[in-house]
Amino acid sequence: MPLPSIQKAVVVEKVGGPEVLQYRTDYPVLLPKETQVLVKNAVSGINYIDTYFRSGLYPCAKPEVLGREAIGTVVALGENTEKYGFRVGDRVIWLGTGGYAEYACVSAERVVKLPVGLSDEIAIASFMSGLTVLALVRETYNVKSGDKVLLHAAAGGAGILMTQVLKDIGAYVIGTAGGPEKVALVKSLGADHVIDYRSEDWVRIVKRITDNQGVDVVYDSVGRDTCEGSLECVKRKGTIVWFGNSSGPIPPLPLNLLSPKAVKIARPTLLAYITTREELRLYSDELFQFLISGKLKVNIHHIYKLDDIQQAHKDLESRKTMGKLLLRP
Ligand SMILES: NC(=O)c1ccc[n+]([C@@H]2O[C@H](COP(=O)([O-])OP(=O)(O)OC[C@H]3O[C@@H](n4cnc5c(N)ncnc54)[C@H](OP(=O)(O)O)[C@@H]3O)[C@@H](O)[C@H]2O)c1
Repeated sequence: MPLPSIQKAVVVEKVGGPEVLQYRTDYPVLLPKETQVLVKNAVSGINYIDTYFRSGLYPCAKPEVLGREAIGTVVALGENTEKYGFRVGDRVIWLGTGGYAEYACVSAERVVKLPVGLSDEIAIASFMSGLTVLALVRETYNVKSGDKVLLHAAAGGAGILMTQVLKDIGAYVIGTAGGPEKVALVKSLGADHVIDYRSEDWVRIVKRITDNQGVDVVYDSVGRDTCEGSLECVKRKGTIVWFGNSSGPIPPLPLNLLSPKAVKIARPTLLAYITTREELRLYSDELFQFLISGKLKVNIHHIYKLDDIQQAHKDLESRKTMGKLLLRP
């Protein structure tokens, strides 16, 4: 089938609130450049990072089609993509940019074929979040059976997956979540203790649960609102992994605050762990195995239509969502 020249897409031309997300029906379909493939997106992931690019917290080119991941079908191959072995018609999942559109040109380096037996929705609901979780629990801090872990926003897209992976490793998981419904969901995933950090004194509770010793590692994607408490909750010689800014970025941290307990801190990003194709394969193969074996369940909050993207961002930023938000271009 010939490719269309225009498509539906959500475009951001200036930074701001959800209102800067413009739904358009006349956005050009570009042909893939060298080492790129063109994918017709079937379902895309909506991630918190999309709100950072929209708001200007993270820089990105403008105009920009947001959306860092999608699943779909290869419809055209750029030059010098032979070594990747893709063919037109392959069902693939990718990391890149352009998920908020019907078509995306993405680097073949960041495209992976999907194994049979996984639905589009389950695969995309776990892809970027799941790769992040695996890199964080294997490399940023290597979680071991018996480790005590504090995980914030445990009912979120990444949090739900991390709770299950941590339990699979055999860690003692203390999750935090906002509100009784979210707390119940995280408990149902097997977390050992779940605290409603919007209504409870979570720092005091973590200290009590750990006999005032603190936890081996804190995974904190909330950022500004939890950073001080996370420092209080980590044990002597423990580690804090700050990997997100859902409540805002962490203010500058005087390093001497780490000295009394000899705390280690990390501020990782997924892309730094998967710069080579081998690294991407390593984590995506492990993730697909988790999903196919049924050990990892995903929770899809809602699948939005492309012209409903403003509502999706509003829902995500107002803490109304549990699990992953998806977009059907
Ligand atoms: N470093 C990386 O490579 C990487 C990769 C993927 C994701 N991340 C980070 O991981 C985090 C989770 O991403 P996600 O897409 O799965 O989002 P999410 O966790 O589904 O949504 C964010 C959650 O953060 C909590 N939160 C706490 N304070 C908040 C506030 N003031 N405003 C909004 N939310 C607040 C809310 O849960 P409660 O209602 O339970 O508080 C909310 O549901 C994000 O910070 C993201 O940037 C980082």
